[in-house]
Amino acid sequence: MQVAVFGAKPYDRTYLSAANAAGAHRLVFHEPRLSLATAALAAGAEAVCLFVNDQADEKVLGALRQEGIRLAVLRCAGYDNVDLGAARRCGIAVARVPSYSPHAVAEHAVGLMLALDRKIHRAYNRVREGNFSLDGLLGFNLHGRTVGIIGTGGIGSVVARILIGFGCVVIAQDPVPVAELEAIGVAYVDREALFARSDIVTLHCPLNAETRHLVNAELLAQAKRGFMLVNTGRGALIDTRAVIAALKHGQIGQLALDVYEGEAGLFFEDMSGEMIRDDVFARLLTFPNVLITGHQAFFTEEALTAIAATTIGNIDAFVRTGRPLHPLT
Ligand code: NAI
Repeated sequence: MQVAVFGAKPYDRTYLSAANAAGAHRLVFHEPRLSLATAALAAGAEAVCLFVNDQADEKVLGALRQEGIRLAVLRCAGYDNVDLGAARRCGIAVARVPSYSPHAVAEHAVGLMLALDRKIHRAYNRVREGNFSLDGLLGFNLHGRTVGIIGTGGIGSVVARILIGFGCVVIAQDPVPVAELEAIGVAYVDREALFARSDIVTLHCPLNAETRHLVNAELLAQAKRGFMLVNTGRGALIDTRAVIAALKHGQIGQLALDVYEGEAGLFFEDMSGEMIRDDVFARLLTFPNVLITGHQAFFTEEALTAIAATTIGNIDAFVRTGRPLHPLT
């Protein structure tokens, strides 16, 4: 099957080509992200392979259908960028990689907590300039602190286990509590109680209508003053303007982000020679207590290997049976 791979980076070529080493499919790599303007690049293919910031709304899916696309395989877990109803209506099967390496994202989230708490990102720059002063680098022990986890699925469960290992008190909120986590001491509470009690809150639930702007001004007002917020889920889980206001007032003490609501125009590209036009994002960069990575939590060898294998597996199964391994539609 010919597959148009959108938003393709060198590492996508490497890992997808390795998973397709037997040459079962013809992978055609396109650097641009999928949009209405680029959908025509799929001409000649029967499937498209998409990532988190490829836009597959109703119009784009219609355009893909016109090009003869029958399958869209997402090389990621989240699928908030795809209009599944529209895909069903125009007969495009959609598949994803439901779980590839929860450890990759969980370990990055904990890495952000440690780096931000102990100011490792600031210390790195200081030491390189011969400044060995400790002023402003004071952190706190994770041991004994309360961490609140929103969403204890694949990733949130691993975060919980790592933090239990650190000696944290772990509380969580999820409509589907995990008995194995309760057995090791994780207590489930409601969202408001979680924010009121946590020194650190980390977000690991999917983005959907119920969770969009879950972290808003009202919830922030109920949070423990000076708490740390970590978001490696999806940018729109937080209302970024409300978060900036809370940072300015000290309600949020520290903020770590791997995702951002407006990331589609920024992340995954080298923008170092350009000005940042997004004023909200630019404001975030001015805070000394904000640490941002550009959607790299998934980016480990193990995760890329697993993503590529499942993506090719989805295509194989569709060719063989008319249904991908991990269908969303
Ligand atoms: P999962 O499906 O295994 O777990 C999600 C959990 O969230 C489930 O336990 C579910 O019951 C819970 N949940 C659903 N609605 C909720 C609500 N309203 N409040 C609290 N919990 C709720 O998903 P997984 O693999 O753990 O991934 C979580 C999210 O992480 C993904 O949806 C994706 O958006 C994001 N992600 C980010 C990556 C990155 O590189 N930054 C990479 C992979 C995933």
